[in-house]
Amino acid sequence: MSDETATASAGDTLTVRDNRTGTEYDVPILDGTVRAADLGKIRVAEDEPGLAVYDPGFVNTASCRSAVTFIDGDEGVLEYRGYPIEQLAENSDYLEVAYLLIHGHLPSRDEYEAWVHEITYHTFVHENVKTFMQGFRYDAHPMGMLLASVGGLSTFYPEGRNISDPDNRHMQMVRLIAKMPTLGAFAFRHAQGKPYVYPDNELSYTANFLAMLFKMSERKFVADERLIKALEVLFILHADHEQNCSTNAVRSVGSSQVDPYSAVAAGIGALFGPLHGGANEAVLRMLRRIGTIDKIPEFIEGVKAGNEKLMGFGHRVYKNYDPRAKIIKKACDDVFEVTGVNPLLTIALELEKIALEDEYFVSRKLYPNVDFYSGLIYEALSFPPEMFTVLFAIPRTSGWLAQWSELVDDPEQKIARPKQIYTGDRTLEFEAREKRWT
Ligand code: CMC
Repeated sequence: MSDETATASAGDTLTVRDNRTGTEYDVPILDGTVRAADLGKIRVAEDEPGLAVYDPGFVNTASCRSAVTFIDGDEGVLEYRGYPIEQLAENSDYLEVAYLLIHGHLPSRDEYEAWVHEITYHTFVHENVKTFMQGFRYDAHPMGMLLASVGGLSTFYPEGRNISDPDNRHMQMVRLIAKMPTLGAFAFRHAQGKPYVYPDNELSYTANFLAMLFKMSERKFVADERLIKALEVLFILHADHEQNCSTNAVRSVGSSQVDPYSAVAAGIGALFGPLHGGANEAVLRMLRRIGTIDKIPEFIEGVKAGNEKLMGFGHRVYKNYDPRAKIIKKACDDVFEVTGVNPLLTIALELEKIALEDEYFVSRKLYPNVDFYSGLIYEALSFPPEMFTVLFAIPRTSGWLAQWSELVDDPEQKIARPKQIYTGDRTLEFEAREKRWT
C-alpha cells in the first residue's frame, strides 16, 4: 500500500472481498478517501488489469489535495484559504482576495501595496495583441476572443514555459491577472465597433475595467462608487470554487507542464459552456422567454416534464443553498439603486419562490446558484449576455492560477491521464478499399 496511507490510524481501513477470487484486501482510508491505485491491486490474475473506478464527471473522485478553497455543500459554506466568503465580500477587495488565494495568507500593508502596484503596472498589452484582436469578425463572441488572446499571450511571454522557477511563475501570474480586464474590455468594445480604451493606471482594478468598457470622449471616466463596489463583490464571489469544470481543465492541461497562458486558456474554454459559466446568460434568455409572471406555472411544468432545465438552479456541490447566491441577491439592490430595477427581477423572484416550494425541486435539493441573479446585475450594468462569461473569467483567473501554482508545487501530481472502459471492436481485419467499395 502507498506510503501516505502509513499515517492512517490502524482501524481506518476498508475491507474488500473480491468474490471472483475469494481474496480479501484491506485498503487504507485517508481523509475519507481510498487511493484508486490501492484498488488497482485487486485483480483476478497477475496478468489481468487491476480494479479501476468508473466515474464520469468525477462525481466522487478527488483529483488532488488542495488548501485553496473549502466548500461544504450541505451547509452552504464557501471559504477561501479558511476565510468565509461572506466576510471577504463584506470587507475585502478583489486584488486582496487574489493575493490571498495565490499566496495563502492575507497581505501585510507592504505586501498589498506592492501587489497592487505590480498588477496595475502590467495592465497594458503589447500593441500586436490589440491588432490580433482587431482581426476578429465584427460579431465575434467576446469569450472566444478572450480565449484566443489569452492563449496568444503565451507567444508574447515564451519565458512563461519555465514553470519551475517561482519568480518567473509569479511574473506570469501578475501578467495574467493584470491583463485579463484589458483583454475582456477590448473584446467588449470590438463587438460594439468602438475604439479600444487603454488602461488608466490611476484607477483601481475594477474602476479601471469599467473605464475601459464604457469611456467615450470624456478625459477621465470614473464609474459610480456603488457600481465599483458591486463589481468588487461579484469578482470576489467568482474568484475560486475548488475543483469545478474549468479549474479541473486548468489543472489537467497544466499537468502537462505547459505555460500558464495555455492552461488558463483551457479554463476559459471550459467556462464558456452553458452548464458552467454560461448559465447566467442562459438564465436571462430563459427569463425573457417566460416574459410574464402568469407564464411561470406552465414553464415549471415543462421543466418537471424534463423538457428543459430551470437555469440558475441546482449545483453539483451545494445541496442546501449557494452562499454566493445570497450575497449576489443583496448586491442586486445596490446596483438597481443606481441603474433602476431590471424588470426581469420580478419574474426571477417569483420563479424562485415557486420553485423553492415545489416538490420536484425540493426533493432534488435544487436551489438558486450564483448564476441565477448575476445575469440580472450584469444586464443592469449594460452588459450584453455574451459578456457574462467574460465577467466570470476575469476574476476566476486568480483562482485558476492559485490552483495551477499549487499543482506545479505538488510532488504527488502527475500528468492527467484517466483510464477508460473500452467498448469498441477489437482486432478487426482491414479490408482493402477495392473490396469494400465494390
Ligand atoms: N432544472 C431542473 N432539473 C434539474 C436541474 C435544473 N436546473 N438541475 C438538476 N436537475 C435534476 C436532474 O434532471 C436530475 O433529476 P433526476 O434525478 O430526476 O434525473 C437531478 O436534478 C439531479 O441532477 P444532476 O444533473 O444529476 O446534477 P448534477 O450535479 O450533475 O448537475 C448542474 C449540476 C449545475 C449541471 C445542474 O444542476 C444544471 O444543469 N443546472 C442548470 C445549469 C446551471 O445553473 N449551471 C450553473 C452551475 S453554478 C456555476 C458554477 O459553479 O459553475
